[in-house]
Amino acid sequence: MALIEQTEVTLKDGRRALLRSARGGDGWRVNRFIREGFLTQEYLIRLPEEYLVTPWQERGRLRRRLQASDELMLLAEANGAVVALLSTNTDKRRRARHNCEFGITVSRDWQGGGLGRAMIEILIHWAEGVATLERLELHVVTANAPAIALYHSLGFTVEGLRRGAVKYQDGRVLDDQLMCRRVDGTSAPGTKVETSA
Ligand SMILES: CC(C)(COP(=O)(O)OP(=O)(O)OC[C@H]1O[C@@H](n2cnc3c(N)ncnc32)[C@H](O)[C@@H]1OP(=O)(O)O)[C@@H](O)C(=O)NCCC(=O)NCCS
Repeated sequence: MALIEQTEVTLKDGRRALLRSARGGDGWRVNRFIREGFLTQEYLIRLPEEYLVTPWQERGRLRRRLQASDELMLLAEANGAVVALLSTNTDKRRRARHNCEFGITVSRDWQGGGLGRAMIEILIHWAEGVATLERLELHVVTANAPAIALYHSLGFTVEGLRRGAVKYQDGRVLDDQLMCRRVDGTSAPGTKVETSA
């Protein structure tokens, strides 16, 4: 069971947040955060109106996530509100079940204080303890410099580039890259890819 005990983290500006696994009872708050705080961020691909999960369905998803040993849904909360969310999606096919993809968003007011780093460190530590997992993966738009700096500093390397993979309604066309960090004690074989962004 992917249950992370509650830990308190103090941000660079002294504010505090609690990090813990999301539970079924968080369904409404998590669903709201995904629509209003998560998918409204510039460099995320899915639009809020494309997220069709209802709060009730969210509750079920969180419960199932908690039962799955190879999935993690980590939230940060402060003053009763969700301020950041990290969510995994592990491939269930037997030939690929060692690959765990994740996404993370910290709400705007809480960015730059160390929350993202703290959450990904917990993810890495958790994944290193899951026998079936070998690779943590993510996709990131190459223009998202803060996120890429964070991932590099935590040992992620670039494994691939998708040119023109993301198209905005205002006409911008951006590349995105696949980054990976191994969690089985071996070093990542990826190379840094220069991009046009
Ligand atoms: C990317 C994100 C998750 C990082 O979380 P965060 O809490 O803001 O990041 P942290 O405060 O832990 O910063 C860690 C590192 O990120 C980098 N970083 C953060 N903000 C930065 C900025 N404005 N410019 C450049 N680098 C920055 C630094 O390397 C920093 O290292 P440091 O700890 O040595 O200062 C968060 O900013 C976010 O949710 N952004 C919007 C959604 C998004 O882009 N998600 C990722 C999609 S792949």
